[in-house]
Amino acid sequence: MSEQELYEGREQTLIKHFILRRYLERFAHIIGFEWDTITYVDCFSGPWQSQSQEFTDTSFAIALEELRKARVTHATRGKALNLRCLFLERNPVSYAKLKEFADKVTDVTVETRNCELAAAIDGVIAFVRHGGGSSFPFIFIDPTGWKGFEMALIAPLLRLRPGEVLINFMTDFIRRFIDHPNQQTKEQFASLFGSSSVKDQIQAISDSQDREDALFRKYAENVKRTGGFPHTCAAIVLYPKIDRRFFHLIYATRHRKGVEVFKKVEQQAMEMQDETRAKAKQRKRVRDTSQQELFPALEMDETQPITLLRRRYLQQAEGEVLALLQGGKPVPYEAVWDLALSFPLVWERDVKDWTRKWRSGGLLKIDGMQPRQRVPKLNENNILVWQGPSS
Ligand SMILES: C[S@@+](CC[C@H](N)C(=O)[O-])C[C@H]1O[C@@H](n2cnc3c(N)ncnc32)[C@H](O)[C@@H]1O
Repeated sequence: MSEQELYEGREQTLIKHFILRRYLERFAHIIGFEWDTITYVDCFSGPWQSQSQEFTDTSFAIALEELRKARVTHATRGKALNLRCLFLERNPVSYAKLKEFADKVTDVTVETRNCELAAAIDGVIAFVRHGGGSSFPFIFIDPTGWKGFEMALIAPLLRLRPGEVLINFMTDFIRRFIDHPNQQTKEQFASLFGSSSVKDQIQAISDSQDREDALFRKYAENVKRTGGFPHTCAAIVLYPKIDRRFFHLIYATRHRKGVEVFKKVEQQAMEMQDETRAKAKQRKRVRDTSQQELFPALEMDETQPITLLRRRYLQQAEGEVLALLQGGKPVPYEAVWDLALSFPLVWERDVKDWTRKWRSGGLLKIDGMQPRQRVPKLNENNILVWQGPSS
């Protein structure tokens, strides 16, 4: 089956898998230089709506494939990279398939559990610890709704050091419950976010886009605080055929290198998303009208929601960076970079464009630049000093 056939009607999963695949590929290669073992935990493994006999369209098979690639690379330089995986799945029917798949894996340590995440937290921690002192864990949390990964429940996983986390935050699903008056819903919100005030704060926002932003940003903030992560990023995944957000993939790391890699993958994924969605929409039009179209799908899709979202976040990020610079104190480039890249769809090249523009306009001075250096760089002790008027 082609990729298009495997993901027909669930193109959002293709984007999710693309991000997981590309990130893990780079992650595993990088980690392999400093650590002896990678411990990968998929807390909601599936298989879920898989179309492939070999499960090539599942997160667990994709993860194994990418981790193995890094092992091959490191083997060529004489380093044996140890791979360990733990796959959890609650549903017995899905679990049976997962187990059958896992039992065939002989070159990687794979353990499976047929239980809810809530019943497995201690087991996950024990599995991670068993990897030893030179093991780096990566935790993937990919639920179907908004239950079973409450903040207090996943807190021990977020606090693992070292460790990184990728969480599928079902924004659209969660958004629908904001105005629900039911007390139970209120409590569920509080548990999910690990904060009782979030629902009221979001309810107070009238604009729907602002609400969605507040939802995923508050969630990412709480992941950051709970796990002691200095950095979180959110990749936006839209519905395939309607111009609305479906979910955000929230990534948390303690290293700027991780942010750098995730943002590159996010950028590639957004290009892919534009194309995949345009094609999905075109296929639907052709089916509905029984008429072939003359032009390629991308040319026929004029809505460009990703471009519009990017404009929105660029404006917000630039505004916040300006406010930081105009705060009256010199600012290390790292602080500007961290702030700007915490917004979805904002890349490092945007930060460089702004600084170039402000510097050439005489609004910004950058200390610590080398004679031929045009834009600030990370870890070069570049300090940004605002010289223009404060707004
Ligand atoms: C969205 S699917 C996972 C898809 C998979 N990660 C992928 O990308 O191929 C979520 C899976 O988690 C399972 N599940 C739901 N709640 C769970 C829980 N509390 N603990 C463990 N598994 C759960 C569901 O049965 C389903 O198979």
